[in-house]
Amino acid sequence: MERLHTKSLLLDPLSRDDFPWLFALYADPVVMRYIGTGPRDEAAARANLEWFMAQSRHPPFGYWVLRERGTGDGVGGAMLMVRREGLPVELGFLLAQSAWGRGLATEAAAAVIAHALGTLQVPLIEAFIDVKNAASGAVLRKAGMRDQGLCPGPYGGTDRKFALTRDDWLAGREGA
Ligand SMILES: CC(C)(COP(=O)(O)OP(=O)(O)OC[C@H]1O[C@@H](n2cnc3c(N)ncnc32)[C@H](O)[C@@H]1OP(=O)(O)O)[C@@H](O)C(=O)NCCC(=O)NCCS
Repeated sequence: MERLHTKSLLLDPLSRDDFPWLFALYADPVVMRYIGTGPRDEAAARANLEWFMAQSRHPPFGYWVLRERGTGDGVGGAMLMVRREGLPVELGFLLAQSAWGRGLATEAAAAVIAHALGTLQVPLIEAFIDVKNAASGAVLRKAGMRDQGLCPGPYGGTDRKFALTRDDWLAGREGA
């Protein structure tokens, strides 16, 4: 897995050294309000992160911890995953509350999308958000993903789906 970077962030491949502060992030009920089944205890967060570490040896899987360039402090995570064999590659992200509102999620999402569609050449990337998660919708739109409307979500219930094809991403770059 490659290290990625943006104007403000370093995106480092997940390491177990990051587990303690990531556990705190996954336990925060505000951060987890719209993610899966909500806040996770340490055992559930550890199992999920271990799964990502194992799968990250097989691109397009990847989990990057987001660090502020200036301080090196960990502020969140961004991930690519294939939830079930045969499904498209899915993008996810989460940031500590202290890092919200500065454009960092948009920077991270755009970098991971470019990595997936550009470097890894996947044909399509998708993201699913809770219908009430307006901030994530704004992030995905700003990162170039297209709103596909409502659909059954990965955790049951109805989600809003976003998608971007490699062809559309390349066409957008040519037109920029
Ligand atoms: C969603 C989240 C990643 C956004 O991170 P962030 O770094 O604050 O995002 P950005 O600053 O890049 O952009 C946020 C955008 O959402 C907008 N926004 C924020 N809160 C909003 C709200 N309640 N309603 C509508 N828009 C909102 C901001 O105005 C901004 O858009 P703008 O630049 O056009 O003004 C962060 O809040 C988070 O980690 N939330 C919890 C985890 C989560 O829900 N992850 C997504 C699951 S797919």
